[in-house]
Amino acid sequence: MFNDIQEVLYTEEQLQTKIKELGETLSRDYEGRNPLVICVLKGAFIFMADLVKNMTIPLELDFMAVSSYGTATKSSGVVKILKDLDVPVEGRDVLIVEDIIDSGLTLSYLIDVLERRNANSTRVVALFDKPVRRTVGLEADYRGFELPDAFVVGYGLDYAEKYRNLPFIGILKPEVYSN
Ligand code: XMP
Ligand code: MG
Repeated sequence: MFNDIQEVLYTEEQLQTKIKELGETLSRDYEGRNPLVICVLKGAFIFMADLVKNMTIPLELDFMAVSSYGTATKSSGVVKILKDLDVPVEGRDVLIVEDIIDSGLTLSYLIDVLERRNANSTRVVALFDKPVRRTVGLEADYRGFELPDAFVVGYGLDYAEKYRNLPFIGILKPEVYSN
């Protein structure tokens, strides 16, 4: 598994330091608002777990699964809800937890859905961002790291469902997915 990684971009320790900072900022910004923190499955599951452990305020969690990628490395442009939320978002302060923003299609679709359901506020925290890949005008309200335009895996992110359990984020060797 480690042999398929070309380069480690951020180590486990660097990720944890940043997530702690994000947790502290979010705790201040959402103090007294009981936010509904939504994990976008599957990629954000590790980030979500580490993030909420660093949030020191009352909050609620829910999970949503969407698909825009299949097992390929490029967006199909089609976003499908595979698993919807269990609770209504009407009147709630919603914080969407995303692993990575690439084209921005997935998030702009999700924000749209939640706003149509009358959330009081909808913000996004993304651990990783590839700004050069953006095709729709969308920025995360809170962001961890900017990444180069390379396919990355680890820390929740997969290629064909593998590598999610790597504790760091790294660039996959192109030959792993180009053949
Ligand atoms: P969009 O293009 O809608 O894509 O912003 C967001 C989703 O695409 C996936 N994604 C990646 N997954 N390595 C991955 O494992 C990557 O480099 C990568 N870039 C985008 C991811 O699921 C994200 O939620
Ligand atoms: Mg994926």
